[in-house]
Amino acid sequence: MLMPTLHTERLVLRPFVAADAPTVQVLAGNRLVADTTTNIPHPYPDGAAERWIASHAGSFVDRETLTLAVTRRDEGRLLGAVSLIDIQPRHQRAEVGYWIGVEFWGQGVCTEAVAALMDFARTDLEITRFVGRCYARNPASARVMEKCGMTHEGTLRQHVAKWGKFEDMLLYGQVLPQRSAQ
Ligand SMILES: CC(C)(COP(=O)(O)OP(=O)(O)OC[C@H]1O[C@@H](n2cnc3c(N)ncnc32)[C@H](O)[C@@H]1OP(=O)(O)O)[C@@H](O)C(=O)NCCC(=O)NCCS
Repeated sequence: MLMPTLHTERLVLRPFVAADAPTVQVLAGNRLVADTTTNIPHPYPDGAAERWIASHAGSFVDRETLTLAVTRRDEGRLLGAVSLIDIQPRHQRAEVGYWIGVEFWGQGVCTEAVAALMDFARTDLEITRFVGRCYARNPASARVMEKCGMTHEGTLRQHVAKWGKFEDMLLYGQVLPQRSAQ
């Protein structure tokens, strides 16, 4: 299966291409984006976006991760990224991850993109269990997960060390109906 392209009312979610790298470096390089993610370095090094984009096809072939660029349907502008990470076919489970460029926050972009990715995961990858995690100090991310049908399942206390401080993480999840293990 090739990496998909998904269409929503306002967005196109498509595989990243090498030409996206400079924009990724600018958007993900904003300290406000790095601040609430676990893996985005800050400052964002030259070459890191190129290496990240180049890794996507292989990790989808291995069915570990699916990462798509979030773009505007009307003029194609790159807004951010959504991912299924830790895809576990045997457990019909995947984790969602995402970031959106600061100037595009608060317009429902992330929710629209994550909802479409979860739909694809359900219909084409037979995922029936979703999880997502965010820092306890990141209510916008928690709200995205709620709006996508997940509920708070617990708090992982001091789970991640971020910039010299241990952070509590909120665990969100959803179990779809009619789930059956093979
Ligand atoms: C989290 C993030 C992806 C949200 O993107 P977005 O496109 O602005 O999200 P949406 O507009 O779809 O939804 C955001 C929701 O959070 C709410 N929100 C925003 N800030 C909030 C706050 N401080 N307290 C409570 N709710 C807040 C918004 O009102 C909105 O909810 P509503 O539609 O019910 O009003 C974006 O802020 C981001 O990229 N942050 C940095 C990276 C990050 O944190 N990634 C997630 C790691 S787990």
